[in-house]
Amino acid sequence: MKSYHLPGFNIELSQLTSSFSTVLDSTHSALLPSAKNKLEDKFKNKTVGFFDWPKTISQEEVSKITRLARDLKSKYQGLLVCGIGGSHLGAAAVLEALRSETEEKNFPIFWLNNVDRWAMDRARTFVTERKVACLIISKSGNTTETLSAFFHLHSHLDSKGIVIITDPETGELRRWANTHGYASLAVPPNIGGRFSVLTSVGLLPIALGGVDIYGLLAGARDFRHYSDSLGVDANPAYQVAAMSYIWDTHFGHHTQYLMPYQSNLKLLTDWYVQLWAESLGKKDMSGKAVGPTFVGALGTRDQHSLLQLFKEGPSNKLVGFIDVAPSKTPLTVGPAPVPTPDFKYLSEHSFEEINSKALLATAQSLEGAKVPTYRFMFEKLSPETLGSFILFQEFACAIAGEFYQVNAFNQPGVEEAKKLLRQSL
Ligand code: PA5
Repeated sequence: MKSYHLPGFNIELSQLTSSFSTVLDSTHSALLPSAKNKLEDKFKNKTVGFFDWPKTISQEEVSKITRLARDLKSKYQGLLVCGIGGSHLGAAAVLEALRSETEEKNFPIFWLNNVDRWAMDRARTFVTERKVACLIISKSGNTTETLSAFFHLHSHLDSKGIVIITDPETGELRRWANTHGYASLAVPPNIGGRFSVLTSVGLLPIALGGVDIYGLLAGARDFRHYSDSLGVDANPAYQVAAMSYIWDTHFGHHTQYLMPYQSNLKLLTDWYVQLWAESLGKKDMSGKAVGPTFVGALGTRDQHSLLQLFKEGPSNKLVGFIDVAPSKTPLTVGPAPVPTPDFKYLSEHSFEEINSKALLATAQSLEGAKVPTYRFMFEKLSPETLGSFILFQEFACAIAGEFYQVNAFNQPGVEEAKKLLRQSL
């Protein structure tokens, strides 16, 4: 088993490294260096901006975002965020992972990322019960769900508490900001929705949620620094991209799960699924449909549902786990209410221990069934470790895009559905 120590987290690659390594070794000389060159060209000619961004974002911009967040928090009692897809998931995932209970209580956030009647009714109640600030986040500035939600709710909002986050030049929302005086922030044109959590798209809501955005960006820079110091052979981003690609294309493991064992990382899997699925699920250069199906799961919950399928169902899965190192103040189970000799041992264990051992038991059981697994292990959950993990995932996904020979940075399928919805309305 191969282990990598990255800033903030470790990776243990496939339990079944040997079969994967044999194929990797045989395809290595063509696959990895050519992906590296192609991707580096895109970074150099600035058609793709996410990888340089944590280094190039100016201190002024970060201070401006921090000040804006402080100002809005001092004037409002909560926040409504209208945005969908890449304009929602990254920030929501970071806040779910890191937000304190006090912050949640003192400054509630309502994420409006769906326009069904139930969601709209609840959003309306949320904004009428308190004085809220509102972020309208849409890179294109034209997304039906985001605009319609805002149309419906704006009469309940104070226009001074509204901030638009959109393209610096194009789209309907930019027109509003330019001609109707709404406060606004710009999304870098060369950073697409699902790669944009470390831009104003994610940074303002994250700062409003009380999480340190300087730490988040510093963690991303730490990963960048680490990655730059390694050749492709030793770089875990290339290895993880190759693992996903090889298990999919050579071994037919077309369904790839990410399964954290912490409930507050569930949304991080939604972000991961969007990042990888929307980037890779495409027609390649020859017109062939490619891309594995990415799925999020949650341990131990799904150990009591999906595990059966992983183990004895079709042999077409790759399972990635996420664990977090035990905290320094473990939470012990405590005594049972009645004498229970068979379960006496349980009382002395901590939940951290039970959870981690449940993960290892699942991994062991899958290994026995020859299901490939790998594991991310965070040293702790913090802005720095998540920042590092986010840039790592974005980079690995972009590398996989080169292996599959797709444009990882467009989403023609999503765009078509947006257009059809607009036309039908
Ligand atoms: O990753 C993407 O590009 C998409 O998921 C978009 O983020 C999503 O469609 C929302 O688009 P917009 O930010 O333009 O409203």
